[in-house]
Amino acid sequence: MDIKEIIALAGLLRNISRVAVLTGAGISAESGVPTFRGKDGLWNQFRAEDLATPEAFERDPALVWQWYNWRRGLIAKVEPNPAHKVLAQWERTFPSFVLITQNVDGLHKKAGSTNILELHGNIWKVRCTKESTVEENYLFPLPEIPPRCPACKALLRPHVIWFGESLDSAILNKAFVFSTSCEVMFAIGTSAFIQPAASFPIAAAEAGAKIVEINPDPTPLTYYADFSFREKAGEILPLIDDYLNKK
Ligand code: OAD
Repeated sequence: MDIKEIIALAGLLRNISRVAVLTGAGISAESGVPTFRGKDGLWNQFRAEDLATPEAFERDPALVWQWYNWRRGLIAKVEPNPAHKVLAQWERTFPSFVLITQNVDGLHKKAGSTNILELHGNIWKVRCTKESTVEENYLFPLPEIPPRCPACKALLRPHVIWFGESLDSAILNKAFVFSTSCEVMFAIGTSAFIQPAASFPIAAAEAGAKIVEINPDPTPLTYYADFSFREKAGEILPLIDDYLNKK
């Protein structure tokens, strides 16, 4: 761990007011939520085309829901880690702070963050396939698989983005505006493999922001990073925060 880098970053953060953060599955790894890629990643054990596409849901909604029910069970029993908590606190530290996440686990909200752009949806929300109404749903285990809309009895689906689907354009636009107007952008725990999320830190760098990457492994974003911390998010973020608060 390079303390000089941490001190330099803390000095920079003390003098700026607009911060954007992009998080990926790696920030929840220390809480016990599996990531997607890498040795123990979900996409090493399951085929995305069987479980996370509109075609898969059409073919076998019960199978897709069994998988989401299992993931909801994993997530229900874990807690936010120190990395989530620091980011929640930073909403009050910086005059402008926005958290853009690819995660659907809801752990940022559980840690206290309120200003969150959920690019890929939320596993604790369900959407009616007929009326498109979205509701929070924290039931685990689900009493009925596949679950049905209480109002119209049509199938409910997880309110998440599947492969082949477009992101919500309002959320996407906001994420782009914040990325290209911030002074510092963090990329934390993402393999930067999935677009458009992976392009936000690049757009930020091109607009003049300093880029901070936190990831034990290098990624395509490393090339753009002014600060690269090859560390676990739950270990390095509290340290950065400590130095930021040392006057
Ligand atoms: P990935 O699983 O692709 O990448 C997780 C990253 O986290 C890897 O680069 C790891 O090195 C890093 N990592 C692991 N432990 C870490 C730790 N303790 N601290 C910091 N970093 C750590 O996850 P994402 O990049 O989020 O999409 O994947 C993007 C999207 O692909 C997901 O949102 C999901 C998936 O298909 C949808 O579900 C639509």
